[in-house]
Parts: sequence; C-alpha cells; structure tokens
Amino acid sequence: MVRHLRSEANAGRMLPFVIEYRGRLAGQLTVAGITWGSMCSGHVGYWVDEAVAGRGVMPTAVALVVDHCFRTVGLHRVEVCIRPENRPSRRVVEKLGFREEGLRPRYLHIDGAWRDHLVYALTAEEVPDGLVRRRRAGGRDDAPHLPNSPGNAAHPGPGME
Ligand SMILES: CC(C)(COP(=O)(O)OP(=O)(O)OC[C@H]1O[C@@H](n2cnc3c(N)ncnc32)[C@H](O)[C@@H]1OP(=O)(O)O)[C@@H](O)C(=O)NCCC(=O)NCCS
Repeated sequence: MVRHLRSEANAGRMLPFVIEYRGRLAGQLTVAGITWGSMCSGHVGYWVDEAVAGRGVMPTAVALVVDHCFRTVGLHRVEVCIRPENRPSRRVVEKLGFREEGLRPRYLHIDGAWRDHLVYALTAEEVPDGLVRRRRAGGRDDAPHLPNSPGNAAHPGPGME
C-alpha cells in the first residue's frame, strides 16, 4: 500500500497524509484522482481512529489540506463523495461549508454493491481567505489547535515533501 501511495504521489496524482493527534497516529487523509490540465481537481477521502472521533480532528485536517491544495499545490477544485447514510462524514463537510452538488447513483463499489454517493465540493474562489480561517470562525471550543501549535498536524505521508 505504501508503495502504491508513493508511486501515485510521485506521479502527481495523489497527496497522501497521515493525521497525528497529541503525538499519535490518528488517521489518514488522501487527496486522490488528481487531474491537471483544464480541470485541476482532486477528491478527498479520510478516516480517523474512533478513539478520537467527535473532537473535530477531521474538519481541522480537511481545512488544512484544502488550503494546501488551493494555495500551494495549485488545485482549483476539491470534492468529497459520501454515502448518504454516513452522517458523521456529512457533518465534516457541512461544518466546513462545502457545497452539496447532488447524488451520484451507484457511484462506487463498496461492500459488495454499487453505492450511491452525495457529492460535496469547493472551488478556490469560494474560500478566498482559506478554509482554516473559515473553520476558526465557526470552529468549536474543543477543536484541536490549528497550525503553529505543537502536537497536532496533518503531515505529508509517504512520497510527499
Ligand atoms: C467521518 C469521520 C472522519 C469524522 O471525523 P471526526 O474527527 O470524528 O469529525 P467530527 O469530530 O467533526 O465529528 C463529526 C460527526 O461525527 C459524529 N460523532 C460525534 N462523536 C462521535 C464519536 N465518538 N464516534 C463517532 N462519531 C461521532 C457526530 O455526528 C459529529 O457531528 P457533530 O459534531 O455535529 O456532533 C469519522 O467518523 C470516521 O473516520 N468514520 C469512518 C470512516 C469514514 O466514514 N470516512 C469517510 C468516508 S466518506
């Protein structure tokens, strides 16, 4: 798996990150399917250890990575595709103000069947001041500290600078 992530990252098609919370590995966030040319887009996937779920770790990680994608990497659009029944994941993008674009019927083959997914997206123009700033403005009191705080960060994964 690490070899695959590294190879995709080196080809410019993926940005794999690991998430640390209080010095421990707590999850993963990957921007995959990156397409350049006239699209400059990628889709975000993530999971967090259930021991730290519900503390705002993932909204913070997504905000950090989306800002990196728009400001440093040069992507124009990011999207997150979520099964309608996945309320926790839908809350992540709702809290960050992603735009809901609609339903992709039978979009991905998961657990033995083709599953519908809701599409949420953002373009760079929609967050001129950045998603971290937006998150701070609407953030929760118990959210992890944002950049420049030791201990909490989304770090580039294998194959990334
Ligand atoms: C979806 C997921 C990444 C959310 O990460 P998170 O860091 O817990 O995000 P948040 O803290 O913002 O919580 C989001 C929602 O999870 C739910 N939640 C709260 N506490 C929780 C807990 N202890 N355990 C599970 N879910 C909880 C709540 O609905 C919460 O929304 P709220 O803040 O409005 O109450 C995480 O639940 C996860 O890894 N799920 C399994 C993998 C997955 O579904 N990935 C996404 C595929 S699209």
